[in-house]
Amino acid sequence: MKCSAFPSPEKRLRSDLCLLPFAQDEEGEPIALFDDPILLRSCQHLLQTKDFSGKEEEIISLYPDPILESRICLVGLGPKKALHVEQIRLGYAKAIRSLPSSIGTISSFPPMVENLSMELIFRGVLEGIYLGMYTFDMYKTEKKEKKVREVALLCDVPSVYIKVEREVRARMEAVSFARDLVNQNADDIDSEGFAACAKKLDDGRLRIQIHEKEWIEREKMNLFLAVARAASKGPRFIIAEWKGAPHESDHTALVGKGVTFDSGGLNIKTGNFLDGMKGDMAGAAAVLAVMKALRDLNAPVNVTAAIPLCENGIDAHAYKPGDVVVARSGTSVEVANTDAEGRLILADALDYVKEVIKPSRIIDVATLTGSAEVAVGKDIAAVFSNADALAFQLETAGTHAGDPMWQLPLHKEYDKLLKSEIADCKSLAGRAGGAIIAALFLQKFVGDIPWAHIDIAGPSDVLKPMRYYEYGATGVPVRALIEFFLSMGPKEEREDIQNQVAPYSPLEGGCGK
Ligand code: BES
Ligand code: ZN
Ligand code: ZN
Repeated sequence: MKCSAFPSPEKRLRSDLCLLPFAQDEEGEPIALFDDPILLRSCQHLLQTKDFSGKEEEIISLYPDPILESRICLVGLGPKKALHVEQIRLGYAKAIRSLPSSIGTISSFPPMVENLSMELIFRGVLEGIYLGMYTFDMYKTEKKEKKVREVALLCDVPSVYIKVEREVRARMEAVSFARDLVNQNADDIDSEGFAACAKKLDDGRLRIQIHEKEWIEREKMNLFLAVARAASKGPRFIIAEWKGAPHESDHTALVGKGVTFDSGGLNIKTGNFLDGMKGDMAGAAAVLAVMKALRDLNAPVNVTAAIPLCENGIDAHAYKPGDVVVARSGTSVEVANTDAEGRLILADALDYVKEVIKPSRIIDVATLTGSAEVAVGKDIAAVFSNADALAFQLETAGTHAGDPMWQLPLHKEYDKLLKSEIADCKSLAGRAGGAIIAALFLQKFVGDIPWAHIDIAGPSDVLKPMRYYEYGATGVPVRALIEFFLSMGPKEEREDIQNQVAPYSPLEGGCGK
């Protein structure tokens, strides 16, 4: 798809459809967010009927005058006073999804919103369009043809647009990359398949190393090896390096849970708990996608990603509940349940990163606990941190990106619950506070390094449409992490943008439905 900006209205006359953004005033009446007398006149009759109010995600198409415009589509963005980038994303995503397949070219007036810069408005429109266009049809006999070939925004500042478009495209390609990895069969994206996809990203600037079982054994990652024992494919440990600020010492490590299928192991998952477990590598996919975006955006940051990959399978070699395994760090761990495998592979990866990479901060991403999903639901990731400032930066980045996360506490008292009778600690304790206890377990392996753990078990995929996501993987938290890394760049510029975005407030329905 090609996106471009046009100062002249002629482009509009040649497009198959023109999207017209509307908001709602205090009385619930529609207000046009564009300024074009001819098109306004075309909408006049509809507006008089009161059939369109401009409320969030409301879409109506009209065919007023084929000579001027073959179709126009009114898009509601909701109450004007609550209009932020997220509402623009939602409206445009919804509009794109509801178009008939005959539409090849679209034009739109970017919504005029007083408190938002042109840059943010473009971003909202383009992100909405890209997110709305995502489809996964690899396994369909009949491919959904991607009809929309061209989007033209009618505006006077094409230079801003070009910069934003390039950036948005890199961000959105990373999101789609993560979603594609998660949506594919577990036997295609197994440890080898995932590693092969990662290797393809190596271009000399982004460097990818793939380590196999012998290396993992030499590293004494025994927890990781225990989980990986019953799979037909061997484990892989990927290290991806991006040095976008070579003269600076600041360095972030990203760690992603890469369980390519989680059967539960001998504590086998029952019933529909197996559903979606091909997506238990969504943390790994997100981390790799962020590395790709950093490269594509030439981001001025230093980041190393560490990704442990294996299947949590079942065969005669499977690790067993009750086993005591000595972690890479030397800590002995009693495996209380083989289905709590994510924290085991992450523990060795976190310890490796802490000791070998010695980063300024560590961020891990994992579909770690059903408990996190119960706590914060399908729309929000749970974040835990030993450094509140880091958690706050992540939450803020998530808010700006429309990829929300909320901090939950690393409640020290619960640490006692991880005491074991026969080992230094056990891997889990009871059901209550499961996401917190999993995070407390991980904390044992990060030492004093500022660290944040993002549990994406809830938002990593959806079974029914939610916000701009349809069925399947969402790519969470790729957008939040890219925002986080880009916000580490030139301060003044970012603060300027951040001041224009309202804080995320679920109580006001800011997070969609
Ligand atoms: N991969 C699961 C967590 C998960 C659940 C992700 C639902 C996505 C959706 C994880 O490995 C797991 O099985 N966790 C168990 C831990 C329990 C055995 C302590 C859980 O959350 O039930
Ligand atoms: Zn599990
Ligand atoms: Zn798992």
